[in-house]
Amino acid sequence: MDTTVLPTVNALLNSVSAVSLIAGWRFVKRGNVAAHRRCMLTAVCASSLFLCSYLTYHFLHGTTRFIGTGGMRQLYFTILISHTILAATVVPLVGTTLYRISKGQVDKHRRIARWTLPIWLYVSVTGVTVYLMLYSSYPHRLRSAVIP
Ligand code: HEM
Repeated sequence: MDTTVLPTVNALLNSVSAVSLIAGWRFVKRGNVAAHRRCMLTAVCASSLFLCSYLTYHFLHGTTRFIGTGGMRQLYFTILISHTILAATVVPLVGTTLYRISKGQVDKHRRIARWTLPIWLYVSVTGVTVYLMLYSSYPHRLRSAVIP
């Protein structure tokens, strides 16, 4: 398998998470709990696959350095640092949110989910943003990663 496509796969998985989270939020606001459940479990699967793919890529290829300069560099690292801190924070939040609903603690689920959902969405969207900023600083890599 050509593992150089994994960064593109990762960005797609982050996009699936983001879209599923937005759809799941809209469904629960309309009272459709079954669709909310499906969307949230889709987001959990996409984010779990992302984590496996991310770790595999970094194990095999190490770190790709951002080569942009000036304001773009500052913006890139601001997004990357906030993304990394919140990505670590969201893992126990997702676990607790799921645990509470699995125990039928709907009120407690609702209370923590109001934090989990926006943080998770920020992590998913900034995951795609970091990918686009990183690989557009290496135009040839973006082309070779996107076009097989
Ligand atoms: C980690 C994944 C999940 C997240 C982030 C999440 C997020 C949310 C959010 C944001 C709300 C609305 C909170 C509010 O009232 O403002 C909510 C409510 C709810 N969620 Fe989830 N949810 C997740 C997984 C699930 C699952 C797997 C189920 C299973 C059925 C579920 C069932 C519910 C129910 C029953 C409500 C209350 C609906 C109501 O107010 O009538 N959630 N969730």
